[in-house]
Amino acid sequence: MATYKTVNIDLGLVSDFAKLPAPVEVRDWSYFLVQSRKGVYQLLSNVCPHQAKSVVDWNGVFMCPDHGWRFEYTEGVCVNGPNAKMVGFPVTIEDGRLIAELPDDYGPKTES
Ligand code: FES
Repeated sequence: MATYKTVNIDLGLVSDFAKLPAPVEVRDWSYFLVQSRKGVYQLLSNVCPHQAKSVVDWNGVFMCPDHGWRFEYTEGVCVNGPNAKMVGFPVTIEDGRLIAELPDDYGPKTES
């Protein structure tokens, strides 16, 4: 459970995301919608936990081009470096829709 103020963002219907991971943009920030082996959804920030460069989807893994850290698809765990993980935010299903719980001050606000 989050210990900061959060906002719920409707990402769309579950059926809209037939193929995962899927890129998602929220308030000018980039994420990947992923699903764990247990079926739990989350949004992984594309901001690298090493030095905050942009992680990309590359050949079956997430990869940071700057120093080559790679992260697996289901929970963003680093597979070739230190004990690191992409920052993840919870996503729940409500009435067939994916609802992300993000920090309320996470990125510029674009909606009114
Ligand atoms: S900034 Fe991503 S691996 Fe260094």
